[in-house]
Amino acid sequence: MMSASVKIAPSLLAADFAHLDQEIAGIEAHVEWLHLDVMDGHFVPNISFGIPVIEGVRAVTDLYLDCHIMTTNPGAYLPELAEAGVNGVTAHIEAVPDPGPTEMRAREHGLDFGLVINPGTPFEAVAPFVESCDLIVIMAVEPGFGGQEFIPGVLPKVEAAREWVENRGLRADIQVDGGIGPENAGTVGAAGASVLVAGSAVFRADDPVHAVKEIRRAAERNE
Ligand code: DX5
Ligand code: ZN
Repeated sequence: MMSASVKIAPSLLAADFAHLDQEIAGIEAHVEWLHLDVMDGHFVPNISFGIPVIEGVRAVTDLYLDCHIMTTNPGAYLPELAEAGVNGVTAHIEAVPDPGPTEMRAREHGLDFGLVINPGTPFEAVAPFVESCDLIVIMAVEPGFGGQEFIPGVLPKVEAAREWVENRGLRADIQVDGGIGPENAGTVGAAGASVLVAGSAVFRADDPVHAVKEIRRAAERNE
C-alpha cells in the first residue's frame, strides 16, 4: 500500500541489560525511536523494568523514547514516566476501555499518547479514539515476552487502521509490535505500518545496525 518512510523502534527488552549504554550507542544513529516495554507482572505475566532504568536510558540518549505500558493501571505512573524523560506512552485498551482520563493525564504531562490492541482485540475497540491519538499499536504477539513468533493474522487490522487514518486525514502513526524482522517487515510495511518495533531481530543480531537497515529496506520497499 504505502510506507515511503518508516520509523524503526528497537525494543530494549531484547538488549543486554548489563550494558544498556553500549547497546543504545550501537544503534542510535540508525533508528528514530527506542521502544521501552514496561511490565508489572499483573497485566502481563512478566516483569521488565521501570522508572530508574528509564532515567538511566534517558541519561545516555536523545532518542525519542516510546514507552509501551503493560500494567493494570497505565495512568498511575505517567507523572514519573514524564519526569524520567519518556516522550510518548501507549496504553492497552484492554487495561483502559475508557481511555479518555488516561490520555488527558498523559497530555497534562506533555506526553504523546497512543492505544495498543492485543492480537485478539478487534480494531473497532480503538477506532472511536484514533482521532485524538498520536499512535495506534497493533500487537503481533501476545504481550509479555520478546522473541515470540509474528502472528500474520493481525495484518488485516493493520490495514484497517491505516485505512481509518487515511480516510479521515488523521495524524496517528500505526505501529506494529512483536516478532518483526527483515523476513516479515515488508508485509508489515505493505499493510500500512509507519513504526516497526523490533527487539530480538535487532539486539540479538550479530550486527544490530545491519539488522535495522534490512528491516527498514524491507518495510519501505514492501518486500
Ligand atoms: C512484547 C513487547 C514487544 C517485544 C518485541 O510484550 O511489547 O515490544 O519486546 O520483541 P520481539 O521483537 O523480540 O518480538
Ligand atoms: Zn512493546
